[in-house]
Amino acid sequence: MGNTLDFQINGLRANIEGKEILKGLDLTIKNGEVHAIMGPNGTGKSTLASVLMGHPKYEVTGGSASIDGEDLFEMSVDERALAGLFLGMQYPSEIPGVTNSDFLRSAINARRGEGNEISLIKFIRQMEKKMKELEMNPEFAHRYLNEGFSGGEKKRNEILQMMMLEPRLVILDEIDSGLDIDALKIVAAGVNAMRDENRSFLIITHYQRLLNYIQPDYVHVMMQGRIVKSGGPELAERLENEGYDWIKEELGITDETVGDEVGQEA
Ligand SMILES: Nc1ncnc2c1ncn2[C@@H]1O[C@H](COP(=O)(O)OP(=O)(O)O)[C@@H](O)[C@H]1O
Ligand SMILES: [Mg+2]
Repeated sequence: MGNTLDFQINGLRANIEGKEILKGLDLTIKNGEVHAIMGPNGTGKSTLASVLMGHPKYEVTGGSASIDGEDLFEMSVDERALAGLFLGMQYPSEIPGVTNSDFLRSAINARRGEGNEISLIKFIRQMEKKMKELEMNPEFAHRYLNEGFSGGEKKRNEILQMMMLEPRLVILDEIDSGLDIDALKIVAAGVNAMRDENRSFLIITHYQRLLNYIQPDYVHVMMQGRIVKSGGPELAERLENEGYDWIKEELGITDETVGDEVGQEA
C-alpha cells in the first residue's frame, strides 16, 4: 500500500433495483485533496458513496473506478477497507450485540493484520483520547454499536471510527445532517485534525454550512446522477447565496433528481 493516493472514477453508471441512478460520473482525487460533492436531495450522492464502498444492493453497469490503479469493483468490501477506503454513513446501522469498542478493535486489527494486533492498553488509551476530543461520553465505548444513539451521537461515532482507523480516503456522507451547531463544530474539528498530506476526503453534503468549517480544495455539484459542475470553494459560496437554481438554468435542467425523468434523457 503506497502513500500516494490516486483515485479515479470514469463514466460510472450504477443501478438499484433495475433503475439507473448514476449516469456517467467522473471524479479524480489525488493525495491530500479535500473534495466536496454538493447537490439537492435525490441526485445520487448517497448512491455514489454506497457504490464506491461496495454495497451489494447496487449494480455497477458501466464505467470504472480505481484506487492506485487497481480496479475498485474487483475488490471485496474488506479489500477496499484494507486499501484505505472509509465511509462515514448518512444513516449508520445499529448492530445490537456488538459493542462499540469490540467493533472498533476488530476493525483496526483487520487492517493491521494477523500478528500485528494493537495491544488492548494502547487501543483503550487511543479510543479514550479520541472520544474525549469528540466530547463523547465514555460509556459509549461499551454500548452496542449505534443502538439507541441519537442522530448526532451516530455521526460522532462515525468520526470516531474514522479517527481510529486512519484511512487514506475518507468519504463522509452528510456527516452534518442532524447536528446542531456545537456538534457540527466538534465533528468538523475532528475531520480537520485528520487532514494530512497523505489523507484525502470526499465530503458529501447538501448544505454549504459544513464547508464553513471544513474548507474544501474542490467543490462539485451533482445532479441527475452525475457531476455537472466543478470549481473551488467560491462555488460553494455561490450556492449558499443563490441556491442551485442558476445551475439548473445554465444547464437547461428542470428536474435535478434521478427520479423518473420522463422525456429528460436525450
Ligand atoms: N433502495 C432504493 N430503491 C429504489 N430507489 C432508490 C433506492 N435508494 C435510492 N433510490 C433512488 O435513488 C435516488 C437517489 O438517491 P440518493 O443516492 O440517496 O440521493 P441523495 O443522497 O443525493 O439524496 C433517489 O431519488 C431514489 O429514487
Ligand atoms: Mg444522501
